[in-house]
Amino acid sequence: MKSFKNKKTFVTGAASGIGRATAIALGREGAELFLTDINAASLEAVAGEIRKGGGTVTMSRALDVSDYEAVRDYARDIHAAHGSMDLVLNIAGIAIWGAVENMEHRQWRQVIDVNLMGPVHVIESFLPQMVHAGRGGHLVNVSSAAGLFGLPWHAAYSGSKFGLRGVSEVLRFDLRRHNIDVSLVCPGGVDTGLVQTVQIAGVDTSAPFMTKLRAMFQAHAISPEKAAKAILSGIRARRYLVFTSMDIRLGYFFQGKFPITYDIVMRLMNHVMHKVMQRQERVRADAAARGGAR
Ligand SMILES: NC(=O)c1ccc[n+]([C@@H]2O[C@H](COP(=O)([O-])OP(=O)(O)OC[C@H]3O[C@@H](n4cnc5c(N)ncnc54)[C@H](O)[C@@H]3O)[C@@H](O)[C@H]2O)c1
Repeated sequence: MKSFKNKKTFVTGAASGIGRATAIALGREGAELFLTDINAASLEAVAGEIRKGGGTVTMSRALDVSDYEAVRDYARDIHAAHGSMDLVLNIAGIAIWGAVENMEHRQWRQVIDVNLMGPVHVIESFLPQMVHAGRGGHLVNVSSAAGLFGLPWHAAYSGSKFGLRGVSEVLRFDLRRHNIDVSLVCPGGVDTGLVQTVQIAGVDTSAPFMTKLRAMFQAHAISPEKAAKAILSGIRARRYLVFTSMDIRLGYFFQGKFPITYDIVMRLMNHVMHKVMQRQERVRADAAARGGAR
C-alpha cells in the first residue's frame, strides 16, 4: 500500500500510545478511520483531535476486543454502512507479567483473551469481507519483542504475542493470493500508557525500585510517534517483520545467527530479574517485621 489516502482503516487501541499515534498519523495521511478502544473517553478525545486536524473519523465505538459479539456487531455496522476495509491494525493490548508461581489463572486468561483472542476476533470479523471485496489490502498485528524472545516473567504475555505471531505467519502466505499483505510489528520499549498500567504478579509496581526500573525503561524507550512512523513505513514497504527500534532488530539477528549469545543474554536477564524479586521480598519481610515489632 503506497498511499493511505481514502483507505478505509480499522484501528484497535486507538485511545492511547502506539494505537493513538498510528491513528493520528494515518488521519494526517488521509485515511478514512474506523476506531475502537475500551476507553470511551480517551477514544472520543483522539477522534476529536484527528477531526480537528482535518482527518476523517467515520466511526468510533468503545468496546472490549476480547468480547467477540461486540467486535462482530461493530464490524457488521461498519460493513453495512461503509463496506469492507483496506487496512486493519490490531494494536490494543495489555501487559501482565510475573513469575509462574505468582500468576493467577485470571491473569493468564486476561492476557490471552485481550492480546491474542482480541486480534483473532478482529481478523474473523473483517478479513473475510476484505477477501470477498477483492481489492487487496493490509493487515497489521502488533506483537512485541516478547513475541520473539523468552524474556523473564513474560510467559503469559509471550504466549499471547507468540500466538499472534503464529496467526500472522500463516496469514501472510494464506492472504497473499488475495493481495492482502500482513505485517507483524515487534516493538521494543515504547514510552506509552502501558509503562504505567503494566501489572507484575507478586510485585508492588508502586514500590520505589519499580519507579527506578520504570525510569530506566522510559530513558531507553522510543516515543509512540516514532513507533507509528515505523509502522506506516512498514506498510508502505509491504514488510512482514516491522521493528520499531534497532535493539530488537539486532536481538532477532543474533538469536537466529548466534543462538548461544541469545541463550547467555536471556539467562543473564533472568538472573537479574530473580535478584530484583529476592530484594523486593527482603524489603517486604523487613517492613513486616518492623510493623510486628511496634
Ligand atoms: N509500550 C511498549 O513498550 C510495547 C512494547 C511491545 C509491544 N507493545 C504492544 O503495543 C500495543 C499497544 O500498546 P501501547 O504500548 O501503546 O499501550 P497503551 O496502554 O498506551 O495502549 C493500549 C491501548 O489498548 C487499549 N486496550 C486495552 N485493553 C483493551 C481491550 N480489552 N479492548 C480494547 N482496547 C483495549 C487501552 O485502553 C489502550 O488505549 C500493545 O499490543 C502492546 O502489547 C508495547
